[in-house]
Amino acid sequence: MTKPYVYMTRKMPASIVEKLEAECDVGMWEKEEEPVPEEVLEKELQTADALFCTISDPVNKENINQAENLKIIATMAVGFNNIDVEAAAARNIQIAHTPGVLSETTADLTFALLMAAARRIPEGIEVIKNNEWGAWAPFFLTGQDIHQARLGIIGMGRIGEAVAKRGTGFDMDIVYHNRSRKPETEKEIGARYVELDELLETSDFVCVMTPYTNETHHMMNREAFQKMKNTAIFINSSRGGTVDEEALFEALKNGDIRGAGLDVFENEPISADHRLLSLPNVTALPHIGSASENTRWKMAEMTANHILQGLRGEKPDHLVSL
Ligand code: DGY
Repeated sequence: MTKPYVYMTRKMPASIVEKLEAECDVGMWEKEEEPVPEEVLEKELQTADALFCTISDPVNKENINQAENLKIIATMAVGFNNIDVEAAAARNIQIAHTPGVLSETTADLTFALLMAAARRIPEGIEVIKNNEWGAWAPFFLTGQDIHQARLGIIGMGRIGEAVAKRGTGFDMDIVYHNRSRKPETEKEIGARYVELDELLETSDFVCVMTPYTNETHHMMNREAFQKMKNTAIFINSSRGGTVDEEALFEALKNGDIRGAGLDVFENEPISADHRLLSLPNVTALPHIGSASENTRWKMAEMTANHILQGLRGEKPDHLVSL
């Protein structure tokens, strides 16, 4: 009997490949840090029974419609905005992702970004490296307090909750805005639900934690940044598309807001000459929210399991629900 064919869009550790090879034929793009070219992905999808992909692979309607044998797309991520879910659903192709397993790790990074931006840590590192540290000065590199400040979280999902919990350790006043209220979270964390305008107008830190959808596209626009306090810091570790980067640039440059900590960008990788990166009050990271050794292994194993479950005709543990 022929085995099902799985295509992996990125080089994965041997044990992950072997797990799949026990039940499948496996093809793999052999580079770890370079995404599979679109034409290769398109060709592979014409014969694959399953796809193991990452956030940087556009799985669009055209290649889904040509994927005659495809039964499951398993992405090594919680976000799945790179996949045309409607096109997949129309062809009964399952989509699995990795929620939960990366929430705490991503919240750690989000908080690190918040702290780095608030206390101007990257600027301090540059001062040392460039031998620019002069005498102690009363207002040298002064930043924003984190303790007892108001943390506004837009999108109170698993990662939002994990960020909020970290905020309680700093005695922060936590407010959130979400599609629906979360009474359990309010009780457990002491977070308070507010309308979006109130969150923007009163928070010292505005943290976007929503998935990227048509509704959240550029939700942080010029108007939103203008509502924020001019001492506030904007944090994004979800998806770059939720932010109008031109509007963010203007807000930072004009002093409408104090700073930004960004782990995600509309076009990744962001080019080093992007205007945002020229600003000293931008702390930027290369989309590493979930990048701890432990968590990335769990995500890879989970993704391989989803593929095996789907191909065996079992229900994958974490299906994207439409
Ligand atoms: C995700 O999982 O969606 C992150 O952006 C990458 O880990």
